Amino acid sequence: MQFPATRLRRTRMQPWSRALVAEHQLTTNDLIWPVFVIEGENLQEPIISMPGVYRYSIDRLMTEVREAQALGIQAIALFPVIAHALKTDDGQEALNPDNLICRTIRALKAEFPMLGIICDVALDPYTTHGHDGLVIDNEIANDATVAVLVHQALNQVKAGCDVVAPSDMQDGRIGAIRHALESAGYPNTLILSYTAKYASAFYGPFRTAIGSQAQLGQKDKKSYQQDPANSHESLREALLDIKEGADILMVKPGMPYLDIIYRMKTKFQIPVFAYQVSGEYSMLATCAEAGHLDFNQSMLEALLGFKRAGADAILTYAAKTIARLIA
Ligand code: PBG
Repeated sequence: MQFPATRLRRTRMQPWSRALVAEHQLTTNDLIWPVFVIEGENLQEPIISMPGVYRYSIDRLMTEVREAQALGIQAIALFPVIAHALKTDDGQEALNPDNLICRTIRALKAEFPMLGIICDVALDPYTTHGHDGLVIDNEIANDATVAVLVHQALNQVKAGCDVVAPSDMQDGRIGAIRHALESAGYPNTLILSYTAKYASAFYGPFRTAIGSQAQLGQKDKKSYQQDPANSHESLREALLDIKEGADILMVKPGMPYLDIIYRMKTKFQIPVFAYQVSGEYSMLATCAEAGHLDFNQSMLEALLGFKRAGADAILTYAAKTIARLIA
């Protein structure tokens, strides 16, 4: 390869030649829309920490999801905002068959049978301390937490959820949930494991959105979420999750961890999803609001970056905006 025989600019010259040689493409098949649900009727509350993102009551969510589906979005991820009065130390509300998330799933399934519904498995929306698991003797008790998460997952699946997504980072939870699903007669439920979930500052806006930040205060999740200093460890997590019965692996946050997506995909050739988390969304949204960059273009570029790294699909709060753009 030598200049001038090789001029890499030749294929870049025209839109048509750029299109023909493009290695990666973002389509609506790649987009999963994470949504926040609240109790009440006819509510659409703006989330201050996430410009352009809202908390919807179930009835309003129906309208939003109809639009999303029409735009080509095939799956959504649900996050409930749980009333303070329902939060307890042990997060019991997570096991209530009539809780907000279960009612949302049932309403969505009745109206949109073809929609993929993904639910987080973790206790943080439900606990007074804001942790994803049970706190016993000042520790997030792994095994006791896993037992509760199994019930939480089954509760969601019985309501009609298609994909359970454990985001709690306890050891052994994938195997326990897979075993419970098989035993309870749900062999087709997907497990999307938050395999490499890092203890990240980029979750800040999300924690404000679901109200777990006030609960968590100055505490952190470093005793169970992964250390941003590590990458080999993610591959060990992946190996365990695959063996325990995960169908899809997830890396989270996204942009600071593209190396993890790439390595996981390359090593295991299993579906890998990326979560462009709240902080990543808000960086672009607030910067664009201030007039410093173009939201649509920078978002498209960020999402394409996930595809290039090897992600099969991306959870992004901008799913609808982007779907509209690429439709
Ligand atoms: C809770 C959970 C978190 C996110 C998804 N599920 C936050 C956390 O672990 O504290 C973050 C999502 C985002 O920032 O967009 N288990």
